Amino acid sequence: MTEENQYLKAWFAPQALNELLTYRNLIANYHYQEILRVILSRSARSARLTTHFDLDFPKQPQTESYYCYKHSRTCAPTANAFQFLKRYSLDSIKRIEEFAVLRTAALVEIHHGDSRQGDFAEVDGVITSPPYVGLIDYHEQHAYAYHLLGLEDHRDKEIGAAANGSSQKARRLYQEDIASVFKRLLGKLKPGARMIVVASDRANLYGEIAQMVGVEEEATVLRHVNRRTGRRASEFYESVFIWRKPDKQT
Ligand SMILES: C[S@@+](CC[C@H](N)C(=O)[O-])C[C@H]1O[C@@H](n2cnc3c(N)ncnc32)[C@H](O)[C@@H]1O
Repeated sequence: MTEENQYLKAWFAPQALNELLTYRNLIANYHYQEILRVILSRSARSARLTTHFDLDFPKQPQTESYYCYKHSRTCAPTANAFQFLKRYSLDSIKRIEEFAVLRTAALVEIHHGDSRQGDFAEVDGVITSPPYVGLIDYHEQHAYAYHLLGLEDHRDKEIGAAANGSSQKARRLYQEDIASVFKRLLGKLKPGARMIVVASDRANLYGEIAQMVGVEEEATVLRHVNRRTGRRASEFYESVFIWRKPDKQT
């Protein structure tokens, strides 16, 4: 990736981009490069030329001052990134320290890939937050990270991508895709094990998905989502589905 990347030039003020690229160029000198990339990515998200009330889905760069619905006053898009690099460095250190207290010797592995393919390990339980149907294009939402870090683009593999809409056909395909992933996961669980699925099920698709997977529906808990960014209604709930793998048939 060249530093002439058009996306970066359009979405960051010149000084902010300079600071982000300088930080990026220093990462190779350090041991914990993954953490530094996370800090860079979090900072870039905040340093984009966006309004404060539309960090989730900004449509075009905001280069002028604007009336801010989040702060109820006139705000200006940021010209620098340094303050974010500092803020997220301190915040990330705090989170790492907090996690260090809870950390156990449990093995943690992170696999990147299309969940419809590849193999899953045998596990005691599953907790997952699958993509929604027709609502978010995750690649698009985090485009700044792809451009800044040169990440590979796999948007064609996103289940339920917004680009594919939420038609009857798109919903059916979504149910089939999610069910196929969960079925393979179920094969890795012991009878009686729990599968906990956090989903915003506005389209009411998860009852059928549970049937397609072959799990017992034990409970559904509503979870209040606290929206820190964006301008959408503050009362937003997600469902937490608690499913159980049936005991062996005798
Ligand atoms: C509701 S978000 C959950 C994010 C997650 N809780 C986290 O903290 O990163 C759904 C995630 O599923 C990912 N996703 C969509 N299609 C996928 C696929 N075929 N295989 C694996 N992940 C996929 C999206 O990119 C998104 O990161």
